[in-house]
Amino acid sequence: MSTVTVQSYIDKLADRFGQSDLYYGHGTDNPFDEAVYLVYGALSLSFDAEANSPGRLLADSELCWLDELVKARVEQRIPVGYLVGKAWFSGHQFLCDSRALIPRSPIAELIDRKFRPLLKRAPARVLDLCAGGGCIGISCALRFPGCEVELAELCADACELAMANVALHKLSPRVSVLRSDLFSALTGPYDLIISNPPYVSRQEIAALPEEYCHEPVLGLLSEDDGLALALKILHEAADFLCADGVLIMEVGYSRQQLSTRLKAVPLEWLEFAHGGEGVLALTRNQLRQYQGLRSP
Ligand SMILES: C[S@@+](CC[C@H](N)C(=O)[O-])C[C@H]1O[C@@H](n2cnc3c(N)ncnc32)[C@H](O)[C@@H]1O
Repeated sequence: MSTVTVQSYIDKLADRFGQSDLYYGHGTDNPFDEAVYLVYGALSLSFDAEANSPGRLLADSELCWLDELVKARVEQRIPVGYLVGKAWFSGHQFLCDSRALIPRSPIAELIDRKFRPLLKRAPARVLDLCAGGGCIGISCALRFPGCEVELAELCADACELAMANVALHKLSPRVSVLRSDLFSALTGPYDLIISNPPYVSRQEIAALPEEYCHEPVLGLLSEDDGLALALKILHEAADFLCADGVLIMEVGYSRQQLSTRLKAVPLEWLEFAHGGEGVLALTRNQLRQYQGLRSP
C-alpha cells in the first residue's frame, strides 16, 4: 500500500492538468473536476460523503494504473470519459467509449426540470434522434417512468453502445434502439423529439482541439456549414410529432448560422442556468410553417 491518499493524488493531478495545455469540454470545465473525474471514474469510487473516499490510501497497483491514464490524458489528449469508460449525464452513469461522443449536452438541464414550461404534461412517447450512446433518451425514460422512448441512430457501433446502456439501466423494452438515417426507419407520432445532431462544419473540424480527434467524426461533422442535418430535421420533424408535440434540438455554436439562414422562421433559443447554448424548441405548428419556408 502506498502512502498517497485519493485526495492528495487529485490535488497534485489538478496542478499538473493546470500546467498542461489540455482542453476541457467533455464533461468538465476545469483541471480540478477533470482530476476528480479521472480518479473517481478509474477506481469506481463513490461520491457519497459517507464513503470517505478522499482519505483512502491508494494501493501501489492503483497508483500505476492512474499514472498510465494520466499519461494518456496529457500526452495523447484522450478525453477522460474514454479512459475510464464512463460518463455522468443528468445524474446518471453511462457506459462511454469511442463508439459515440462523450455525453455533455446542456439538454440534461431541460430533462432535470422535466422540460417545464415547454411541456404541459409528461410525454407518453419520446424520440431521441441521433442518440449516440443513448444518454438523452435514457435520461428521459428515467425522468418520466411512464413513457416509451425510441433511440434512433445511424451508426451500428453507437447503436450497440446505446443497447448496452439500455441494459445497464434495465429499461428494455420501454426504451428501444433503432438503426435509422434520421427519420427513415421511424413511424411516430411522438410527443417529444429531442435531437443533438452533428453540427460541426468541415472548415471548423480541422481547428477543433486534439481531444475531439478521439471522437467519431460521424458524431461531429455535418455538411452545408454544419447545418445539413439540422435543416433536414427541422423540415421533417412535424410529420412525426403529435398535434401538441415539441421538437427540441441542439445546434451549439451553429446557432448564428441557422438564424441567418432561417430569418423568416421564429426560432426560440432556450436559456441555461448551468451553461450551454444553441438549443431551440419548436412546436409542431411552428414546424409546419417552416415546411413552407425552405432555406435559400
Ligand atoms: C452529436 S452526437 C450526439 C450523441 C448523443 N445524443 C449525445 O448527446 O451525447 C450525434 C450522433 O448522431 C449520429 N448520426 C449522424 N448522422 C446521423 C443520421 N443521418 N441519422 C441518425 N443519426 C446520425 C452520430 O453517429 C452520433 O452518434
